[in-house]
Amino acid sequence: MTSQMPYKILCVCLGNICRSPTAEVVLRHFCNKKQLNIIVDSAGTSNYHSNKAPDARSQKHALKRGYNLSTLRARQLKTQYFLDFDLILAMDHENFDDIQDLLVQAVAKFGRHKIKAKVALMSEHDIDYPQQALPDPYYGEGEGFERVLDQCESSSRAWVKVFQQQL
Ligand code: 4NP
Repeated sequence: MTSQMPYKILCVCLGNICRSPTAEVVLRHFCNKKQLNIIVDSAGTSNYHSNKAPDARSQKHALKRGYNLSTLRARQLKTQYFLDFDLILAMDHENFDDIQDLLVQAVAKFGRHKIKAKVALMSEHDIDYPQQALPDPYYGEGEGFERVLDQCESSSRAWVKVFQQQL
């Protein structure tokens, strides 16, 4: 890592109460472990749960693996974030499309030269879950939340390898 400025990553799902807060904390953990100069944050494409803490089930399952989600609060993705973040990670393909739609608005508002963020899937480099969506656990059972954690850990390890080579 040569750059002085931290590389800024935003994890994005629909509600910002299940998948992206989990991805935020897990990815931060793996980046910190390798002492990468990276800031990780999260947001949702919707405003359904703005200002709420992560879903109690997400918090419970994450804590069993040592990840504390309790201080996070949901917020909605804004056009400004395409100027502020280097990389926006979509948890599933619908999130990816919704992010692209907002990117079009950001380009119209600020001009393409101002846009900093690249958009990718959380699973972009994950050989165990190649290009796969993180399944939305919200309407399901506990195993869905474990699956989110499994995928977040696997995809985070894959991203950290990329960052170690590219940043
Ligand atoms: P998330 O999960 O996108 O992973 O935060 C969801 C949370 C809430 C809803 C959908 C998905 N909802 O429809 O309220």
